[in-house]
Amino acid sequence: MGAVWLISIVNLMMVLLVRSLESGLQNGFYSSSCPKAEAVVRSTVESHFSKDPTIAAGLLRLQFHDCFVQGCDGSVLISGSFAERSALPNLGLRGFEVIDDAKAQLEALCPGVVSCADILALAARDAVDLSDGPSWTVPTGRRDGRVSSSSQTSSLPSPLESIAAQRQKFAAKGLNDHDLVTLVGAHTIGQTDCLFFRYRLYNFTTTGSADPTINQTFLSQLQALCPQNGDGSKRVALDIDSQTKFDVSYFKNVRDGKGVLESDQRLWGDDPTRSIVENYAGHIKGLLGLRFDFEFPKAMIKMSSVEVKTGLEGEIRKICSKIN
Ligand code: HEM
Ligand SMILES: *[C@@H]1O[C@H](CO)[C@@H](O)[C@H](O)[C@H]1NC(C)=O
Ligand SMILES: *[C@@H]1O[C@H](CO)[C@@H](O)[C@H](O)[C@H]1NC(C)=O
Repeated sequence: MGAVWLISIVNLMMVLLVRSLESGLQNGFYSSSCPKAEAVVRSTVESHFSKDPTIAAGLLRLQFHDCFVQGCDGSVLISGSFAERSALPNLGLRGFEVIDDAKAQLEALCPGVVSCADILALAARDAVDLSDGPSWTVPTGRRDGRVSSSSQTSSLPSPLESIAAQRQKFAAKGLNDHDLVTLVGAHTIGQTDCLFFRYRLYNFTTTGSADPTINQTFLSQLQALCPQNGDGSKRVALDIDSQTKFDVSYFKNVRDGKGVLESDQRLWGDDPTRSIVENYAGHIKGLLGLRFDFEFPKAMIKMSSVEVKTGLEGEIRKICSKIN
């Protein structure tokens, strides 16, 4: 038994090592060029988080939207009407000021060394940790991209799309069903506008009734929060039970018909994704059950290696919102 465990742990370490070598990233990339890099990002995220704990969700989502368009290269941070940031799926993104703040401090400390793409990957990790979630070592060495175009955001999933479509978009980034469900577990923190799900609450079926997959008690709760003709920009927690705590209640909610976005609830309507949700929600007990706080870091390391630029590719931006 002990030997089997040891072998599988060694195996896992090899897999992670090979994966990070393949991506060209490495743990502690700045350990000699800017030894305080990770500590500066950490303290910056901490100071913003202490004023507004919901900023953690903003940073985590920012990393996802960065990686799905042009790879994890900080392209989402570029401002301007031409840039990704101005495209519809990105209008609600927040946390840019945290990245800019950390960058300004790092430019004073070690000019031209630490990429915006790495600052974002580190900030997303710290955000999860501060929200009582797991922590992990972030492989670093990403370079910043020089392209950001508002017309290139169709690779981002929409909450109205089917699981088949979500699956396809994740697969295009080398991410499987397991990664998909695990990563969407990020919705255990954060909020959404009424606008993104209100259509489920009223006349969803065109026969006048709501989306039948919504739990009845939850339906009246959501209707009270988002009246049919009320303010569409009102914010509602994606995980009704604990919106600032990184835990497994999101999966329990999906199981119980309390997913807020249509894409969240559909994870329960598709067999392969459902069994993963069930697992995280605690349905399967004992050693064989996957643990969300163990799987999430692995999935994040995988996502944050998508199409990264390393070596001589790209640049190290001086200001995260502007190409040099
Ligand atoms: C199936 C794919 C996904 C869809 C369709 C989706 C969709 C959405 C939508 C519509 C919102 C609300 C935005 C708003 O109202 O401003 C949201 C919020 C959020 N998403 Fe996702 N998402 C997906 C996957 C992910 C992944 C993979 C992550 C991170 C690893 C993530 C992290 C978040 C977070 C943290 C929030 C809250 C943001 C905040 O409070 O500002 N999502 N998502
Ligand atoms: C629901 O939508 C359908 C089709 O758009 C419409 O004909 C019907 O009158 C609506 N019903 C209610 C109760 O709003
Ligand atoms: C609806 O929510 C209630 C209360 O939270 C829960 O006990 C019940 O199992 C849920 N119903 C379904 C069909 O999941």
